[in-house]
Amino acid sequence: MRELTFPRTVVVGKGGLEYLKRVGGKRALVVCGATVKKMGFVDRVVGYLKEAGIESKTFEVEPEPSRETIGKGAQLARDYEPDWIIGLGGGSNIDAAKAIWFLYERPEMDLAAINPFIRLGLRKKARLICIPTTSGSGSDASFATVITDLREERKMELANAELVPDVSILDPDLPMAMPQRLVADTGFDALSHALEAYIANERNDFSDALALMAVRLIFKYLPRAYRSPEDREAREKMHNAATMAGMAFTQSDVALGHALGHVLGGIFHVPHGRLMAVFIPYVIEYNAKVVSERYAEIAKAVGIEAKTNEEAVERLVNMIKDLRSELGEPASLSEAGIKREDFEKRLDELAERVTKSVVLPSNPRALSLENAKKLLQYIYEGRRVDF
Ligand SMILES: [Fe+2]
Repeated sequence: MRELTFPRTVVVGKGGLEYLKRVGGKRALVVCGATVKKMGFVDRVVGYLKEAGIESKTFEVEPEPSRETIGKGAQLARDYEPDWIIGLGGGSNIDAAKAIWFLYERPEMDLAAINPFIRLGLRKKARLICIPTTSGSGSDASFATVITDLREERKMELANAELVPDVSILDPDLPMAMPQRLVADTGFDALSHALEAYIANERNDFSDALALMAVRLIFKYLPRAYRSPEDREAREKMHNAATMAGMAFTQSDVALGHALGHVLGGIFHVPHGRLMAVFIPYVIEYNAKVVSERYAEIAKAVGIEAKTNEEAVERLVNMIKDLRSELGEPASLSEAGIKREDFEKRLDELAERVTKSVVLPSNPRALSLENAKKLLQYIYEGRRVDF
C-alpha cells in the first residue's frame, strides 16, 4: 500500500496570486528571501492578504536555510500565532516555510525527527500556502524539506506527506523575473526530479504520468526559457513542469542524484540545481545497468528513436549533455569549481555519507562504498561511467 499525496489546491495561470484575496483567516506569516522582497512580490502578497482581511508579518531567510534560522522563524510564529504560513520564493524559502510550520505546530519535537513513517499531526494551528518564484524544486507540491545543519556541514533530508502544502500558487508572472543562470540551475533540478521519480524503486502509474509529462515539457521549454527572458509561454510551462516533477517524486522518490547532491551541496555549497546538472548523465549511466528500459521509455517520450534500449540510453545521455552545455552548466565536479585538493581530502567521507543518504535505498541499483568512491572520482574527472 502507498498513500499518494497532492496539494489540495493548485492555482495555475495568469493572475494566480490574486487567489490570496479569497482565502479566509486572521494572520499570515510570510516566509521569503531578500531577492523576492526586492522584486516587490512580498508587497503584492501582503497587499492581497490585506484585501482578504488578513494581517501579516514577513520573515526573511537565507539561501540554504540553517537550523538556527528555522528556530528563529518558529519562535516568531509561536509569538504571532498565524493561521496561514506562506512560503514565497525559491526552494529554500519554501523549504524554510515548511520547517517553520512544523516547529510551530509541534514545538516539542526536533526537526531531525521528521521522516515519512511518522504522524506529524500538522494543521492544528495553521495551513500552508506555497508560491514558488523559481521553476525547480517543486517544493510547493512535494513532501520534502531540505534544511542545512551548518555545524555538521550536512543537508538534512526531511520528508513527510503532511508537509505537502494545502495550496500551491503557480502564477506565471513570478518566474519571469528569474535571471538566466537561475533558469538553468533550477531547470536541471526539475529535470532531475522527474528522471529520478521515473526510475526510483517506489515508482507507480501516477508518478510515471507526472514524471513523463514533466520531462517532455522541460526538454521543449527549458532551452527557450533560458534563451529568451521575455518568452512567457516557456517560463509558464517550466513553472508547471517543476511542480509536476515535485508531485512525481512525492508519489515515488528521488534517488542517487539527490544522495550525491545533498552530501556535496552540504560541504561545497555549489547550488543544488547546478550539482544536479553535473550528476544527471552519470546517474543514468550508472543506473542503466538495471533500468535501461525505463530510460528508453523516457528517451522515446522526448522523440529519440533507437533500435535498442542501450542505444536509447546513450542518445538520452547525449541529449542531456548537449542541453547542459547549451545552458552553460558544468560537466564535472572539477568544472563546478570544487578544488581537487579539497575533493580528495574528503573523498572517503563523501563516499560514506552518500551511501548513508536516506534517499539512496530508493535507487534501483545498489551502491557499495567502493563504487560510491569510484563514481565520485569519475564525476570529478568527467569520465564516462563504465562499471
Ligand atoms: Fe532537487
